[in-house]
Amino acid sequence: MRVLAIESSCDESAVAILDEARGLIAHEIYSQVELHRAYGGVVPELASRDHVRKLLPLVRRVLEQAGQAPQSLSGVAYTAGPGLIGALLTGAALGRSLAYAWNIPAVAVHHLEGHLLAPLLEVPAPPFPHVALLVSGGHTQLIAVEGVGRYRILGDTRDDAAGEAFDKTAKLLDLPYPGGPELARLAAAGTAGAFHFPRPMLDRPGLEFSFSGLKTAVQHAVRGRALDDRLRADVARAVQEAIVQTLAVKAGRALEQTGMDTLVVSGGVSANLSLRAALAVAAARRGARVYYPRIEFCTDNAAMIAVAGLLRLRAGISAGLAITARAQWPIESLAPVPMQAAHDTTEGFSN
Ligand code: KG4
Ligand code: ZN
Repeated sequence: MRVLAIESSCDESAVAILDEARGLIAHEIYSQVELHRAYGGVVPELASRDHVRKLLPLVRRVLEQAGQAPQSLSGVAYTAGPGLIGALLTGAALGRSLAYAWNIPAVAVHHLEGHLLAPLLEVPAPPFPHVALLVSGGHTQLIAVEGVGRYRILGDTRDDAAGEAFDKTAKLLDLPYPGGPELARLAAAGTAGAFHFPRPMLDRPGLEFSFSGLKTAVQHAVRGRALDDRLRADVARAVQEAIVQTLAVKAGRALEQTGMDTLVVSGGVSANLSLRAALAVAAARRGARVYYPRIEFCTDNAAMIAVAGLLRLRAGISAGLAITARAQWPIESLAPVPMQAAHDTTEGFSN
């Protein structure tokens, strides 16, 4: 089985081809970062227009790279939500139409299921069941993953997502968009203990998060002061520490609460090296092992959409002829993929 996948939920246009036996045989990502930088964030209409321009040439290039004719594909997977509705619709329209033209099934993929399954592209692939910490620009969730399509949310954010907290505090420090990686880079030069920001909800039991208070704390810290490099680095370091410590403590609690010994971390913020170090400690303390996608597949990409799409197609799940996308789509509402099909995935799709 060989699947071509399309991702267009936000500001990355991406296409990949995944072969069940050979692993990932081609993938391309085009980032729109330059396009949105002048506006300090993603402009949805510009994102949609750019996906329309970029996706089809990317499909051609990936087919060429893989040395495959469309006739050799078993299906087309596309991100159908959650995300920016206009951006999603460009990929859904293209994916659904290509599948129709090529006379093969199409499968609508949940973007976050893609993130959750991205580590199946690595060696070794994480075993099921496991606890997943999903930390992206829009989501911060701890999820009990019983199998493919069997997700139970253990904890969610009440307001801002972890990536959003990185991005918004970075903006307060006048860092260019996207702020998360910039803030992380700056934090490395900061002085430990120069600032201390609140670790919200850490003193309460539960696995809920809240990150919106960080913006106010940072605003107070920099008010009336010149934003020089020293101050920026010190604040960046304290912001990163507050977010990282909160995530690590709650991830540790989730392992304890579920009795599971595998932690899977994915989404854009999982590229953060300070977070990886803290999670390694939290997991080791509980005898658990941590799995990540490679850095390149932490942020949005089509390889992860291909994994989710292939697993669903293999289980006989496919989309109807209508072109549909959903801005909101609870991950708990997904159809479970039968265990037999899911079981094979412990071997993953690495090449
Ligand atoms: O998963 P993703 O690419 O897109 C969404 O689905 O949201 O995540 C993007 C988020 C952004 O908020 C970005 O600032 C953050 O991930 N991010 C990071 C790092 N790399 C990306 N945050 C902190 N440290 C990083 N190294
Ligand atoms: Zn994402």
